[in-house]
Amino acid sequence: MKPPVVPSLPPPVDQDYVDQVIARHSARAGRLLSILEELQEHNPQKYLPMEVLDYVAAKTDIPRAQVYSVVSFYALFNLEPQGKNTICICRGTACHTRGSRNLLERLKLELGVKDSAEEGGGADKLSVTTSDGKYTLRTVACFGQCALAPVVEVNHNILGHVNEQALKREIDHLEGDRRKHANQ
Ligand code: FES
Repeated sequence: MKPPVVPSLPPPVDQDYVDQVIARHSARAGRLLSILEELQEHNPQKYLPMEVLDYVAAKTDIPRAQVYSVVSFYALFNLEPQGKNTICICRGTACHTRGSRNLLERLKLELGVKDSAEEGGGADKLSVTTSDGKYTLRTVACFGQCALAPVVEVNHNILGHVNEQALKREIDHLEGDRRKHANQ
């Protein structure tokens, strides 16, 4: 049987780096997850382009369908470029009853995210990046931290008992950091 054809990766993807990551994890159990995690982390926009998934599938001899299903199954993987900051609001029952809907609406207003086709999968399953690339706003079904409801994750930091004022302070803080970096 002929070996699978491995497509080459178009710029700006660093094919040598991708090859190194695949080689480093090749002998490990669960290598696919490790490879995908590392490649996504290395991408400045924190996502996995389709051509990278095709490449990984061909190089590792793992069926494409399996690679895609892993990426779709795990919420940590992104198929679209992400904003510089990620804010994720829990929409589980405990958080919902403690006001996460209001937090979400407030955040949409703050960030200028419209209630429209920009939202993927309806109001309770949101993943949208602002047009300036500053923020990605997402929702999640449950963080497993229900005692802290309502829970919001900001750049991978879990915040509990969040109210609108606290959320506004977080945004102001992120904006302040951004301005500081812009002036450096
Ligand atoms: S429902 Fe929000 S953390 Fe569980």
